[in-house]
Amino acid sequence: MSDRVFRIGLLGRGTVGAAFAELLPARAVHIEAITGMRPEIIGVLRRSEGDFEAILEASDLVVEVMGGIEPARDYVLRAMLAGKHVVTANKQLLSQHGEELWACARDNGVQLRFEAAVAGVVPVIRVLGESLAAASLDRIHGIVNGTTNFILSEMARTGCSYEDALADAQRLGYAEADPTEDVNGKDAAAKMAIIARLAFDTPVHLDQVVYEGIEHITADDMEYARELGLGLKLLGTAERVDGGLSVRVHPAFLYGSHPLASVGGPFNAVTIESEAITEITLSGPGAGGPQTASAVLGDVISAMIPPASTPEATHALEIIQDVESAFYLHMEVADRPGVLAQVAQILGLQGASVKSVVQKGLGEKARLVMVVHPMLESRFFAAVDLIAGLDFMRSRPRAIRVIEEEFIS
Ligand SMILES: NC(=O)c1ccc[n+]([C@@H]2O[C@H](COP(=O)([O-])OP(=O)(O)OC[C@H]3O[C@@H](n4cnc5c(N)ncnc54)[C@H](OP(=O)(O)O)[C@@H]3O)[C@@H](O)[C@H]2O)c1
Repeated sequence: MSDRVFRIGLLGRGTVGAAFAELLPARAVHIEAITGMRPEIIGVLRRSEGDFEAILEASDLVVEVMGGIEPARDYVLRAMLAGKHVVTANKQLLSQHGEELWACARDNGVQLRFEAAVAGVVPVIRVLGESLAAASLDRIHGIVNGTTNFILSEMARTGCSYEDALADAQRLGYAEADPTEDVNGKDAAAKMAIIARLAFDTPVHLDQVVYEGIEHITADDMEYARELGLGLKLLGTAERVDGGLSVRVHPAFLYGSHPLASVGGPFNAVTIESEAITEITLSGPGAGGPQTASAVLGDVISAMIPPASTPEATHALEIIQDVESAFYLHMEVADRPGVLAQVAQILGLQGASVKSVVQKGLGEKARLVMVVHPMLESRFFAAVDLIAGLDFMRSRPRAIRVIEEEFIS
């Protein structure tokens, strides 16, 4: 264990702060292996707890997860003026005072990191600021508010009203007790301002983002959209227009083939377009304590010493080779009675459970196609070997794995 401690001052211990305080000790060994330093929270500030001056004095880095403009702005500025790195999840602060804060970071040679301020754990900021730093981007579309995406997904799925979907979102914890800034588009507008600033390298203030919410959407809109093969999303857009930049948020229909059309439930996603890279889509959970805390901690690690090489392994996990998979099984068979029964018997003996069967074609073109529920791959392939030896098989069966997971509710 290193005797070098990296001291973190935690401003705010609510949903994100509490999850961060829980995650940090759980990942401390891993972080020490990467950075050579052991991260520790040396002080917590809440309304009822802690002293900012004392925390600042004792910290190498300050994590700001209080939210709001003041005193968050004052604390972040003072931390950077004192030469401390800052990690924040505060989109309202950055979308209104970003230029002042980024200038302060540059002037004081410290890092101001903010991955969690946009799209939660989806690494949009890193990708825009690092991976795509060399690309000249044309347009960004984003579903950057999970609450509204959940509401619209529920309306589309169940045909319910906006009010019922909002009540569901609140019951399931996807919407705050006061959801105003989510449903009126302001939260998404703040995130698009930050995205646009990074993507197009030009100052963008929240006041310059035109935004509209989803409060006026009706069940009828969703019904007609479905018939037309369209899905409705609260879409953020930042794009070059006539030599300038347009940044806006409004409800928009998407055709099913658009990469953002299938992003449902509380998920966030961002599509980045440019001539050189064509299109990249990133998606994942856009909020939640543990998810956001993971993005915050990722920023903390980046602000610590970057790795000189691949760190020493800290685990010795067993490498598993025989796993469970679902399979698609395609067999070209002779067209005669009893074929299906024999195949089913062999699969059954290996413990396979058949999810669906389709028989197609006649005579020389007869085919049997099955989807088999997840089972150990070794047992499945043992069954395939036996099936391949049956005298009615016209060629070796083809097997392809099926991913059954559904990430989006
Ligand atoms: N929640 C999410 O899923 C999520 C996702 C992405 C980004 N964010 C961002 O992360 C930040 C924190 O969100 P949250 O949901 O964790 O908020 P929260 O649950 O309301 O927690 C805020 C914390 O900050 C403290 N605090 C607030 N004002 C303070 C003040 N003036 N002085 C001292 N302490 C103060 C509160 O103290 P008390 O405990 O004493 O009340 C509380 O511990 C916000 O900027 C938010 O936009 C949140």
